[in-house]
Amino acid sequence: MSFPVITIDGPSASGKGTVASRVAAALGFHYLDSGALYRVLALYAQQKQVAWDNEARLALLAVRLPLSFEQGRACVDGQDCDDFIRGEEIGAGASQIAALPAVRSALLQRQRDFRQAPGLVTDGRDMGSVVFPDATLKIFLTASAQERAQRRYKQLIEKGQSANLARLQQDIEARDARDASRPVAPLRQEHDARLLDTTELDIATAVAQVLAWYRALP
Ligand code: DC
Repeated sequence: MSFPVITIDGPSASGKGTVASRVAAALGFHYLDSGALYRVLALYAQQKQVAWDNEARLALLAVRLPLSFEQGRACVDGQDCDDFIRGEEIGAGASQIAALPAVRSALLQRQRDFRQAPGLVTDGRDMGSVVFPDATLKIFLTASAQERAQRRYKQLIEKGQSANLARLQQDIEARDARDASRPVAPLRQEHDARLLDTTELDIATAVAQVLAWYRALP
């Protein structure tokens, strides 16, 4: 028997993580932030002095990555590293290593293992296309690059960090281009995924739309 899975794929800073975790909470399902696996691997490689282009060694690290989630926060070797992996530097490393086929296949089974009773909501880039091709409901969640840069800017300022809006938008566009143009598991809307554009939607409306789609399934 396979448990239901809702996949929410989309670009960086589109709000898919917030939407996915709230949908999971509303349904009482597990939640997997698949980007965190790539981010934690980038951090772990940096700690082990493995370069972000060393595909063979990264794939070996990925297989035995000492990753866990404690109360929704990513940990490496049991140490909370969640704040650290959310920074721009590790984000860029994650995007670089995520383009390597051996790394992606080493992380495949680990992601599938999160499919447990009563169900899973997951967000990423290839959740509906590669990791859970038989997902119950597939969503492609996006927003304009300008809107995403503004959201990220607000988050950083709220955390007391400095930020430059134009630079953030450039970084977001560069990361989108890299994630969309890579040969393996590129970022794109699959034909069987429903489009949810949140440029002009707040989080609560986006969450309600996903729940309505899920509940309306036969
Ligand atoms: O969703 P995020 O920004 O935390 O993801 C970090 C990087 O990992 C991003 O550049 C793309 C990559 N990623 C991926 O290739 N596949 C996934 N399923 C999730 C993330």
